[in-house]
Amino acid sequence: MRRARTLLLLPLVPLAGCRGAQHALDPVSGEAAFISNLSWLLYGGATLIFVTVMALAAYAIFGPRGHNPLAHRGLIIGGGIVFPVVTLTALMIYAFVGAPNLLLRGEPELRIEVTGEQFWWRVRYLDAQGKAQFETANEIVIPEGITVAFHLRTADVIHSFWVPNLHGKLDMIPGHPKTMHVHAERTGQYRGQCAEYCGTQHAKMAFVVEVVAADVFEQWRRAQSNEARAPDTPLLQRGREVFLTSGCATCHTVRGTSMNGTLGPDLTHVGSRRTIGAGLLPNGIGALGGWIADSQALKPGNRMPAFNSLPAADLHAVAAYMASLE
Ligand code: CUA
Repeated sequence: MRRARTLLLLPLVPLAGCRGAQHALDPVSGEAAFISNLSWLLYGGATLIFVTVMALAAYAIFGPRGHNPLAHRGLIIGGGIVFPVVTLTALMIYAFVGAPNLLLRGEPELRIEVTGEQFWWRVRYLDAQGKAQFETANEIVIPEGITVAFHLRTADVIHSFWVPNLHGKLDMIPGHPKTMHVHAERTGQYRGQCAEYCGTQHAKMAFVVEVVAADVFEQWRRAQSNEARAPDTPLLQRGREVFLTSGCATCHTVRGTSMNGTLGPDLTHVGSRRTIGAGLLPNGIGALGGWIADSQALKPGNRMPAFNSLPAADLHAVAAYMASLE
């Protein structure tokens, strides 16, 4: 009996896994709310139909022999034809009526271009003319209560942009840029994840969308628009020199300096990010040092070569310089 009860509870386990900051059934936007409501309707309806059909099957098998009331012609036509047609038609109408919730709404008040790359997210905040104001990576900050357009594209293979609390998933297909509108109504941090297999590190291609109050967003936007902080101690100055002479600038930009590579993430304010490696490690000098020394051991197959020949003192200096770029 206890085992049977445990088995009955098993289907609930996947729901428990959805808890937290990445949760399709905890919508914070109208878009996600429609998806969540539709999901509950389908779960509820499917459960009701499943239980009814199983009960009828049990009655047919274990019920009294002889004349079976289930063999009635009306029940076969009603349950087998009329009921599915009516139910599926109603569901189709509900989906058609609700679908505009998922489409683009009017003129967005903020435009952000997100490019999927193996295996991280390039994030550019655009002005009204579509020109990039500044660039960051893997962490997107948006204000609550306004319509934000995410212009989605890919630099290489197919990725998929998915923040379950905010919207459904949208594939980033080479040559086919797409736009998603989100109107977030509650502040908080919501985790996103690449939802289309894109190579060895697909699973470790995460990001965060942080929804904040309008004034907090303005403050953040101003800070991110600034050029990088100049190093003000010998250690940080040494760090910048190592960065310049070790080839880091081939791939990375630090705005306000001569370092302007564009293959990898813009590092102008890397010290202000919560994580490095697209959600891989909490940010800090230790994690930055480990990543620079051997990112291939931490995230095999990512595009950054290991810099394990750097002397320890130089590694420390460059990691400290990165951490200082807030
Ligand atoms: Cu990018 Cu999976």
